[in-house]
Amino acid sequence: MTASQFSCQGIVLSLFRYPKQQESNLQAWDAGDEHLVKHLLELQLEPVNTAIINDSFGALQCALTAINPNWPLMVETDAKTSLLGAQQNLLANQLSNAHINNFNSRELLPSNIQLVLMKLPKNLSYFAHQLQRLSHVLPKGVQVLISAKAKSINKTIIELITKNLGPASASLTWKKTRIITCISDGFERELPKKISWNVEELNLTIDNLTNVFAANKLDIGARFMLDNMPKGEYRNIVDLGCGNGILGLRAAQLHPNATIHFVDDSEMAVESSRINYHANQLQAKAEFHWDDCLTNLGDETPDLVLCNPPFHQGEAITDHIAWQMFLDAYRKLSTGGVLHIVGNRHLAYHVKIKRIFKNCTTIASNGKFVILQAIKQ
Ligand SMILES: C[S@@+](CC[C@H](N)C(=O)[O-])C[C@H]1O[C@@H](n2cnc3c(N)ncnc32)[C@H](O)[C@@H]1O
Repeated sequence: MTASQFSCQGIVLSLFRYPKQQESNLQAWDAGDEHLVKHLLELQLEPVNTAIINDSFGALQCALTAINPNWPLMVETDAKTSLLGAQQNLLANQLSNAHINNFNSRELLPSNIQLVLMKLPKNLSYFAHQLQRLSHVLPKGVQVLISAKAKSINKTIIELITKNLGPASASLTWKKTRIITCISDGFERELPKKISWNVEELNLTIDNLTNVFAANKLDIGARFMLDNMPKGEYRNIVDLGCGNGILGLRAAQLHPNATIHFVDDSEMAVESSRINYHANQLQAKAEFHWDDCLTNLGDETPDLVLCNPPFHQGEAITDHIAWQMFLDAYRKLSTGGVLHIVGNRHLAYHVKIKRIFKNCTTIASNGKFVILQAIKQ
């Protein structure tokens, strides 16, 4: 668990990533957050209605609330861990959330926004979508400040912002980051067209919203998992880190009498799974959970957890989420229940799984991936 001290222009905060007990020494904020706060204070802006978009673990919400506890903030995030992380950090720094309203990545922000602070996300299709959505609510003349690593800012990014929201230009570099200032031009942009593809041999149609893993084709790890689904009868199945829901959809075909729980940290992933479940007219029951791993699965005791774990959180490469997924699977599975995962060979997930479950079998392997299975005893 690493708390890092955010200290900028007299604002001092203790910030944790989420979940707090993760065994990584990654920081909960970056120089881009500092740069935005510094820039904002230099501009001496009044605490007007402000939208904050892509605030990883609440550094920006905490800083603005520390500057003025009445600052009205509209916060948009796709990640449940960001929402929970911000709540945790506000509490840890004794800051009130009374003036903070949260929105997920599909809800339109209110039209009375006077300032937008944004971190550049990794996924540029998602970024373009966020700008297009902003173009539906921002009147002409609203200042949008976007912070990013200097090395990520180029002519293409500036053109993308100009095309989707209004004219933009970048500041000088400070601590290897730059702030892009865009002024909304008041014209509504068309929202992105639906991205759809088929898995022909399984007769499945897949739609992906913009911030969902495997945007326009089946992931090769998922493909290997589909070729090696677990044998046996299952009634209560979790697709953990479901993305577009491909593994859960296949499980629904194989086990029509089961209930499938689709779980993801990304709200767009959960929504894509819901769309795909309905579009493919499956018989199995389905439940959808926007959650950090299996934190809120309630009293459910699944007999099968399917998982293609992530190996990064935002920009950071980390295996702590895979760890948490295996631990949560162990905690939730019924006795005799099965964890069935796919992973890159080099990630050596069998070591972790063996430590937790005390058993681990290699079901299949190829040059790149392994399918591992563990049974809760
Ligand atoms: C490698 S992708 C797999 C997606 C899909 N199951 C597939 O096989 O194509 C990992 C998924 O885990 C999700 N994820 C990341 N962190 C998570 C967390 N803390 N809780 C739940 N899901 C998470 C990501 O949003 C992503 O959709």
